[in-house]
Amino acid sequence: MPHNTAAVLRAPRTPLVVESAPMPEPRPDEVVVRVRAVAVNPVDWIIQGTGSVTYRWLPTPAVLGSDVAGEVVAVGSGVTRFAVGDRVFGLATGTDRGRDPRHEGAFQQYTALLERLTAPTPDGMSDEQAVVVPLGASTAACALFQPRHLGLSMPGGAAHVDAARGSGVVLVWGGSTSVGMNAVQLARAAGYDVVSTASPRNADAVRALGADVVVDHHDPDAVAQLVQGIAGRRVLGAVAIGTGSADACLRVLRRTGGDVLAMASTSVSLDGLAGRRRLFPAMLPVFTRIGLGMAGFTIRARRAGVRTAFIWGSSLRDDEVGRRLWSETLQAGLADGTLQAVPAPVVAGTGLGAVQGALDRQRAGVSAQKVVVTL
Ligand SMILES: NC(=O)c1ccc[n+]([C@@H]2O[C@H](COP(=O)([O-])OP(=O)(O)OC[C@H]3O[C@@H](n4cnc5c(N)ncnc54)[C@H](OP(=O)(O)O)[C@@H]3O)[C@@H](O)[C@H]2O)c1
Repeated sequence: MPHNTAAVLRAPRTPLVVESAPMPEPRPDEVVVRVRAVAVNPVDWIIQGTGSVTYRWLPTPAVLGSDVAGEVVAVGSGVTRFAVGDRVFGLATGTDRGRDPRHEGAFQQYTALLERLTAPTPDGMSDEQAVVVPLGASTAACALFQPRHLGLSMPGGAAHVDAARGSGVVLVWGGSTSVGMNAVQLARAAGYDVVSTASPRNADAVRALGADVVVDHHDPDAVAQLVQGIAGRRVLGAVAIGTGSADACLRVLRRTGGDVLAMASTSVSLDGLAGRRRLFPAMLPVFTRIGLGMAGFTIRARRAGVRTAFIWGSSLRDDEVGRRLWSETLQAGLADGTLQAVPAPVVAGTGLGAVQGALDRQRAGVSAQKVVVTL
């Protein structure tokens, strides 16, 4: 019987500690995976630093992490798509409300994944490459395809792409983020035109994923440049990724007639708060600014006739978007090259002891890269 070890958040705002952990037993709809690579997302250090306020439902000790790649070591009684020995990658949802963060957190040697949020790793793709995909692609798919957001048609083969082509354009603000790169390529794979933003150093990479216009989000004139780049095309909606992006997207939508906006980020970054040993009283002005900013923003959006909603990247766990993304779109797209595993991995270390450093590195800022730890 193998032994499990995890990088554990023992209490809010404390560093992760590597220690023994229970060996997960697969439930009927789960596979247990020997984890070979994990990737780090902003939500990991946001939970570590502010979870006592922002993830109040999450008990500690907890195992954080969403992105997993490795090989299947056990399958639940209802599993049909995978067998022991298969190489897979998947989305761990242990930090969601009502889930178990020790059973299905990524940052451990063995973890449980829902079969329906798991896909086979394509031949020739390493675990470090595959592990960049899960949360980025899932969040992008929620924004683009869930009816509560843009509600676009999912990629469905050449006939579908031909039908969607020319039907309109999607704005992805933050095209060089992990979520944004996936949003650009998924929208394009579904046949839609895409306009986006990135720093000049990343513009070619975002164009290569399918955006026909990429402007610099630092440029004070970015909104006007996007409106010009849209050039009268029908705007199907916007995906706002990055601090301050929702306001900029709303200005584009108002000038182009788009009426739906999916938001991935808060209006004020939480990175300053997440690094503090005490949240109080520093959190008061930050959350007040977020609350007041949201209230004003919601009024402006309503007046402009723009429907807005926050994205929850794992909300596809039980819907048709999740089922299709994980059992069809990713597998087919990564195999035939219409989708890439993006952004590029940067390996921050090996072993669970390297995970805390990887979180700190992600919080310090990355550019079109995914921080990965191999196990
Ligand atoms: N709601 C959800 O379910 C969910 C899920 C995942 C992520 N998120 C949120 O989505 C955001 C992105 O996460 P991620 O993991 O994709 O990010 P990431 O890969 O860490 O983002 C890094 C990139 O952000 C870009 N960037 C920085 N400031 C920006 C701004 N103001 N506007 C546009 N782009 C900006 C930088 O682009 P350049 O280097 O090109 O300047 C950099 O490449 C974060 O706020 C995260 O918390 C939300």
